[in-house]
Amino acid sequence: MEIIISSTYEEMSKAAAKAVAELLNSKPNAVLGLPTGSTPIGVYKELARMHKSEGLDFSRVTTFNLDEYVGLKKDHPQSYHYFMHENLFKHINIPKQNVYIPSGTTDNYAAFCQWYERRIKECGGIDMQLLGIGSDGHIGFNEPSSSLGSRTRIKTLARPTIEDNARFFEKIEDVPIYAITMGVGTIFEARKIVFLANGANKADAVAKAIEGPVTSMITASALQLHPDVTAYLDRAAAGKLTMIDYYEWVQAKGPGAPKQ
Ligand code: F6R
Repeated sequence: MEIIISSTYEEMSKAAAKAVAELLNSKPNAVLGLPTGSTPIGVYKELARMHKSEGLDFSRVTTFNLDEYVGLKKDHPQSYHYFMHENLFKHINIPKQNVYIPSGTTDNYAAFCQWYERRIKECGGIDMQLLGIGSDGHIGFNEPSSSLGSRTRIKTLARPTIEDNARFFEKIEDVPIYAITMGVGTIFEARKIVFLANGANKADAVAKAIEGPVTSMITASALQLHPDVTAYLDRAAAGKLTMIDYYEWVQAKGPGAPKQ
């Protein structure tokens, strides 16, 4: 895993957005996997800026979101449909029909999940999957004890996730307890993974994910088995990594390393 530590959230977001832009410049019809939450907002802001000022083109891009709350309609202000529209899609030139977000209101979840998996494959698979991490180590809504081979399905949210996400709702009782999420196995099939984390409240989960044992109790730890992951961290989120000196040494020496 490549680990890039930035001194600020803005710097971290710009570095990750640059990786997305490089992909889109070399493959204009790339398929992106996208998260919601506080973490990727800076990346989305930077991508919107690049679209506006540098002409970064999304006209042939396809996106698949990781997850959605069960029971929230698309226009609910806390739905991930609404979040994506407000934070990214309304600022870029992506065609509406190229955007896929799990449905939180289908009347047949099993069939929907199978269709979602099939659509990802039909679109050629995900070229780059962006991910945040929950304080309990989840990716997507793959809560502790989720199968590391899991596919898109309904998950019951764990208490720490409900508590973390209560900040977006009026009261904790309003947080949906079910979500539809890509599985760890689905995420794992992305050709490249961009893993993002910022803030001291993520430091424990980040250290376990990157340096701990691979375990379904920290589903992000499965990323250790993926051949192409870059972790973009701010200093606070990197604060509990025991090998931080090494990662920073590698980062500083990187540009001078022999070409592969
Ligand atoms: C959201 C998602 C989650 C979040 C995680 C971190 O689509 O898949 O795994 O990435 O809960 O959320 P924030 O960024 O709000 O701390």
